[in-house]
Amino acid sequence: APKAIPLSGPIGGTPEQEDYLEKVVKEFTITPNYLEKICARFMSEMTKGLDNEGQTLAMIPSYVEGRLTGQEKGHFLALDLGGTNLRVVLVTLEGDGKYKTKSSKSRVTDELKTGPMRDLCDYIADCVDEFLIEEGLSNAETTLFLGYTFSFPVLQSRINRGLLKSWTKGFNCSGAVGKDPVMLLQDSLLRKNVPIKVAALVNDAVGTLLSNAYQKPETSVGLILGTGSNGGYIEKMERIGKWKGGETTSDEMIINMEFGAFDNERVVLPVTQYDNKVDRLSINPHCQIYEKMISGMYLGEVTRNVLLDMIDRELLFGPDNGNYDLKAFSTELSGHYAFETSHMSTIEADGSPDLTRTKEVLDLNLNLRDINTVESKIIKRVCEVVGTRAAHLAGAAIAGIVRHCEISPEEGTDVGIDGSLYEFYPSFEDRIYEALAILLPDHKDVRKTVRLGLAKDGSGVGAALTACVAAQMESRKKG
Ligand code: GLC
Repeated sequence: APKAIPLSGPIGGTPEQEDYLEKVVKEFTITPNYLEKICARFMSEMTKGLDNEGQTLAMIPSYVEGRLTGQEKGHFLALDLGGTNLRVVLVTLEGDGKYKTKSSKSRVTDELKTGPMRDLCDYIADCVDEFLIEEGLSNAETTLFLGYTFSFPVLQSRINRGLLKSWTKGFNCSGAVGKDPVMLLQDSLLRKNVPIKVAALVNDAVGTLLSNAYQKPETSVGLILGTGSNGGYIEKMERIGKWKGGETTSDEMIINMEFGAFDNERVVLPVTQYDNKVDRLSINPHCQIYEKMISGMYLGEVTRNVLLDMIDRELLFGPDNGNYDLKAFSTELSGHYAFETSHMSTIEADGSPDLTRTKEVLDLNLNLRDINTVESKIIKRVCEVVGTRAAHLAGAAIAGIVRHCEISPEEGTDVGIDGSLYEFYPSFEDRIYEALAILLPDHKDVRKTVRLGLAKDGSGVGAALTACVAAQMESRKKG
């Protein structure tokens, strides 16, 4: 029978430290039975969301009809907003499953993320304009089609229409909720005379599915494991009970699940006091609970909360360690979001016996000097449990989708994943597979039947592909 993954065992600390750690490990470990319970609820929530509007799992039809063949050709622009950066990408589809990309990247400041939406759109329009000039496309004879990856919950009503339901991931611009992000952007582009038609609005999970499918036709799931977390998958029209969009040209449609909001009611999620603190102090309390337990934006913060609790109990950097001046010592670590998930990645990857790299990271980024090896081991263990729980929870979602879609081991599927967590966090993938092995017992060789793979730049390329689909749908309707 599958076992819970052991992360326990003494690290050479005081009895109090060991006790506390053991308690933390227990709180963060999801047993196989419990994982099954989470997965089962995930599946019933999927069905609920497909049948009714306004459910926690929003299950939003993407209006992307039909699959791509890989034979599509042409130049398309993509705009990717929703993670840490804003990216403008020129995608050239070459017609043989291959594509080339050129892109520019700019940082979205906290000011832009929380200011008026008009300012954000104007900034985006300027970035697009600059990119077109750089690429010598600003005087193009035909208007370029642009796919807009807008990675927030948008209730779509057409391939390039929809209303923003709420902000997530630290964005909170005024004048946007309840409005159409495409219209707002198109307005800025028009005002600034940038010759672009926003032809498609795409969620990043949906875009990732599409871009992965362009190269691997057996793709039916796309996932984001980055700043936020979400999934998209191909659903049969007949199973979308709430569909009111009229005739479609295909019997399938990609669904944007918005699974970050899964179990906001907290029926099954093993929410700890450390998660509660993250949630309470976030820009969107009581929302996106699952996302807050899985994604890059929050994992460091969960870890930080555990460490702070240990400091307060004098279990870390305490008087036992003699030479620390605690007040001066933990100033940096006291800052909201000071402990980044990327630090966890580095610390988890540190295999040296006295954790040299860990000490370096803590010194460089958090000004924690000369911390001893036991303390470093404590910090590493906390990173491990927080990171493991995240991956197991992500696995529950993937297994839920595979089971819902009744993907048999014979059939199998490719799963395209984009996002820094999946790309850079060591053992995240292995840990997802641990959960899949537990939740998909029919899939004896689950790595061969549920094939997770990096869809690099998935969300950007996917948007360009969607713009291409939009162009096709338009010409089909005309023709
Ligand atoms: C958040 C957004 C969702 C997006 C995900 C990953 O969950 O609500 O739309 O796909 O982050 O970026």
